[in-house]
Amino acid sequence: MSRLTRQVWAEVSLDHIAHNVQQFCTLLGPRCQLMAVAKANGYGHGALETAYTMIANGTNWFAVALPEEGVRLRRGGITAPILVLGAVSADELEVCVTQDLSVTVFEPHIARRLSQAAVKWQKPAKVHIKVDTGMGRLGLLPEDFGELVELVQSLPGLDIQGVFTHFARADAPDLEYTQWQWSRFQKVRQELAKREVPVPYFHAANTAATLFFPPARLDLVRVGLGLYGLFPDKRRPLDLRPALTLKTRVAFVKRVPGGSAISYDSTYVTWKETSIVVLPIGYADGLARSMSNQGKVLIHGTLCPIVGRVTMDHTLVDVGNLPVKIGDEVILIGSDGQNEITADDWAHWMGTINYEVTSQLSARIERVYT
Ligand SMILES: Cc1ncc(COP(=O)(O)O)c(C=O)c1O
Repeated sequence: MSRLTRQVWAEVSLDHIAHNVQQFCTLLGPRCQLMAVAKANGYGHGALETAYTMIANGTNWFAVALPEEGVRLRRGGITAPILVLGAVSADELEVCVTQDLSVTVFEPHIARRLSQAAVKWQKPAKVHIKVDTGMGRLGLLPEDFGELVELVQSLPGLDIQGVFTHFARADAPDLEYTQWQWSRFQKVRQELAKREVPVPYFHAANTAATLFFPPARLDLVRVGLGLYGLFPDKRRPLDLRPALTLKTRVAFVKRVPGGSAISYDSTYVTWKETSIVVLPIGYADGLARSMSNQGKVLIHGTLCPIVGRVTMDHTLVDVGNLPVKIGDEVILIGSDGQNEITADDWAHWMGTINYEVTSQLSARIERVYT
């Protein structure tokens, strides 16, 4: 394990990624493939660096948000099919064709421009048409769907590879809304069958639906969060292992008297003599300012509170009388065998969800693969 010298790093366990992929494979029938959602640099874990492990353990497809994320995977040697989930601009269509990235299509202009790019490069462009069954984001409403399908079928160079939808609330214990979205998607499938439109891949399930709504395990499932070992909800129906551990080292430690104000705005004042530790990580790294006076870190096996405002490059911790020295290792996310701080804890402290915690760990943090 070789590292640069910055004293903040994320260890990503490829064994845990492999294990998580295998766990999801146990849920899937023989005709259902696994698409690993690797957008936002694999939810902060390193899209390319984790991709080979994912493929070796049963992943068939990748999904990204942006064409450039797909290009990065292609340049890294990934030959598996890649679907761009996000809205692609007209300027990005040629690269999708040349790099064999499947494009999400939900409006006629992009369908036409994609067809032109396919004809220009004499390469079929793979299309996944997106239906909005209730997410209210990208995709056509089911009632507007037929026209676009006809257009895509009529345009040269376009190959309908898939039709999909996205659930808005599959992580909720009450699946009523998911059922409703599902019934709308079923109608779309029936309509396409009636029109005899061949669709190799119907897909709908994200991590939550794959775990909690088995009917949605269609021709493939699009799993992101779960492959990195995190859950979209408190329920734990599968043995998943968090792949990411975030660590740093103490940059400075100072004994201060009671009544000392700590960090910007003096929001924390020591009430007795104590040791304040400076960690070389701040909100520019993804340790959000909202964790000021909220979060904890693990030092010498003890959970110690983050005190005062988190700043751009530094975070302060009150370690009391622990004998902490410069250079001591600190666990920010992860376990020391006794205590654990999870991405879910961070989400709670930050007032957000675990997705945001790992995906916002910035490029300043080196990822080390173990
Ligand atoms: C369209 C789409 N499908 C699948 C996923 C994967 O979701 P999850 O990480 O919950 O598995 C996402 C992620 O946001 C998405 O936008």
